Amino acid sequence: RITRVSLRRVLDSRGNPTVEADVLTESGGFGRGAAPSGASTGEYEAIELPASESIAKAREHAVPRLEGQYAGDQRAVDAALRAADGTDDFSNIGANSAVAISMAAAKAAADVLGAPLYQHLGGAFRGENFPIPLGNVVGGGEHAKEATHIQEFLSAPVGAPSVSEAVFANAAVHAAVADVLDERGVPAAKGDEGAWAPPISDAEAFEVVEEAVARVEDDVGFEIRFGLDMAAAELYDDDREAYVYGDETKSAGEQIEYVAGLVDEYDLAYVEDPLDENDYAAFAELTDRVGDRTLICGDDLFVTNVERLREGIETDAANSILIKPNQIGTLSDAFDAVELAARNGYETIISHRSGETEDTTIAHLAVATDAGFIKTGTVGGERTAKLNELVRIADDAV
Ligand code: PGA
Ligand code: ZN
Repeated sequence: RITRVSLRRVLDSRGNPTVEADVLTESGGFGRGAAPSGASTGEYEAIELPASESIAKAREHAVPRLEGQYAGDQRAVDAALRAADGTDDFSNIGANSAVAISMAAAKAAADVLGAPLYQHLGGAFRGENFPIPLGNVVGGGEHAKEATHIQEFLSAPVGAPSVSEAVFANAAVHAAVADVLDERGVPAAKGDEGAWAPPISDAEAFEVVEEAVARVEDDVGFEIRFGLDMAAAELYDDDREAYVYGDETKSAGEQIEYVAGLVDEYDLAYVEDPLDENDYAAFAELTDRVGDRTLICGDDLFVTNVERLREGIETDAANSILIKPNQIGTLSDAFDAVELAARNGYETIISHRSGETEDTTIAHLAVATDAGFIKTGTVGGERTAKLNELVRIADDAV
C-alpha cells in the first residue's frame, strides 16, 4: 500500500520546471515518474498547469486519497487521481502531477514485485516483436524557429532485425543528415527534440532526408523508410481556412493532394497529423486514398482520448494513433486508448513529448502493449534514456 507520495519541481529538457513524483509503499517499494511537456499541444489535451501550482493542488487534493491505496492496482490509483481532480481534463490538479504520480505508482508496484516495469504493465505475455523506433532527424514547426514548416522528418528503420540495430540506424541517419547538409553548405542548429533544424524549404528537406536514408540503408543492408509528423493543426489558420506555409497557403483539398503526392513520391511509411485536428472528414479522405500503403496517425486529432478515437474509428479517419500518457493524464486512460485501437485494427505508436526528462516509462509501455512503433527522438540524453532502455529490455538487462 502507498504510504507516501512526494512531489517536486525538476528541470525538463527545455529547462522548464516540470513535476516529479516519488511513490513509496509499505513493503518498501519505490517508484519515480516525471511529466513531459508538449510545445505543439493539441486543443483537446488534458491540461498542464504551471508545475508549482499543479504540485500544490495535487498535495492538497490527490495525495491524501492516494495514501493507503494498493500501488499494484493501477486502476484504483488512477481512479483516485480522477476523483481528486473532479474534472474531465485534469484542469484542477493538472495532468502533469497526475501522470507523474500514475507512472511513479506503476514503478513502485513493479519494484514490490521485483519485476521490470514492462512486465508489471503486461509484458509477461509479449511476443518476440519489439517496437520500431521512429527517429526525428530533421524538424521545425513549433520545435525550432527558421526551419522547416513540417515539424518532423522521421527515420523509420522498418527492416531492422533488432531494436538495437534500429536505434543505431536512426542515429546513423541523423549523422548522415549532418553530412548532407554540410555538403550543401547549410548550417543547422538543433530543435527541441535534437533533430537538425536547417533553414531550408520543406522540398529541400525531403531531398536531404531521402539522401541520408539511402546512404545508411546501403551501409546497414536493411530497409529504412521515412515518415513525417506534419503537426498540421499548427499550420492551419482557422480564419483563412487554410494551411499556411510561409507565403503560400493550401486549402484542405490541396493539403490532401499534397500529402498523398508525398506518400507516393517518397514511399512514406508514416504520416502523423497531416490535417487539422478538427477535420475528421479530410483525414478520412486521405486515409481512403493512401491508408493501404502508409500509416495515417492521429496525435492532436485523438490526444490519447477514447472518445475522440471512437469518433475516428466511426468515420475511418486514420489507421493509427499516437499514445502520449500526459495527453490524457493516467496510464489507465492510455491503456484504454491502446486497447480500443488494437480492437479496431489501428496501429499504436507510443510517444515522447518535445519537452522530456530522463523518465523511461514510455519504453516499457511500448513493450508492454506490443506497440508497432515508439517515437522518442534519436539523440540527446532525454531521448537516448528511452532508446537505451529499449536496448536493455531487449537484452533482458532491466
Ligand atoms: P509536442 O510535439 O510534444 O511539442 O506536442 C510532439 C508531437 O507533435 O508529436
Ligand atoms: Zn505530433
